[in-house]
Amino acid sequence: MIIAANLKTNLTREKSVKYIKEVENFLDKNSISQEVLVFPAISNLNRHSGRVTIGTQNAYPTINGAFTGEIGYEQLEEFGIKTILIGHSERRHVIGETQEMLVKKFDFYKELGFKIIYCVGEPLEVREAGHEKMMEYISKQYAGIDVTYENLIIAYEPVWAIGTGLTPTLEDIVAIHKELKAKSSAPLLYGGSVKVTNAKEVLALEGVDGILVGSAALYVEHFCTMCEYAEKLNK
Ligand code: 13P
Repeated sequence: MIIAANLKTNLTREKSVKYIKEVENFLDKNSISQEVLVFPAISNLNRHSGRVTIGTQNAYPTINGAFTGEIGYEQLEEFGIKTILIGHSERRHVIGETQEMLVKKFDFYKELGFKIIYCVGEPLEVREAGHEKMMEYISKQYAGIDVTYENLIIAYEPVWAIGTGLTPTLEDIVAIHKELKAKSSAPLLYGGSVKVTNAKEVLALEGVDGILVGSAALYVEHFCTMCEYAEKLNK
């Protein structure tokens, strides 16, 4: 299974290093063989040679150049980063990235062989408009994306479930994952208010290959416990 921590705009460089070390010590000590990914804030990236895969939360589709406030491949290469999160709801809805821009990023980093965690998910008003409208909306987030890319992981994260403590019902997650699995055979993660209290049951669901965790992952011991749950299930 795949267990990923999106640390968003949290922790300092020093704290991120400590965090990753703690996770790795835990994985080693408990012989956890699941795939574990951590996405620290970009300023906290480092060259890293441990057991956990470190990814970037964002990057511009460029090697380098005049893109103030962005980073490109040259900056990632310095630290050996080969994993990227694309299409996160906060990039789509807070920063305003369009599907067109996401496709550019996807194609650029795919060409470079990056592992891509591509996020999809609907806002509340879309969900409330009914299942058909919701699936139509999510389908558009697949437009232009090479769903057969071998280094692709997809994360279904309903926007209204992110950071709110709300989640779809377990039945809903299974049903939506089933429909999304029909679009791509890439591993499919669930994200949105995954906590140490619900992680076990979410991980156990049919069609769930892992979880992408935000706020709860900031508690390193909670994130470690979720990795342990995944190891026990070992789907
Ligand atoms: P929360 O776990 O805080 O809901 O965030 C989920 C998320 O956005 C992971 O990418």
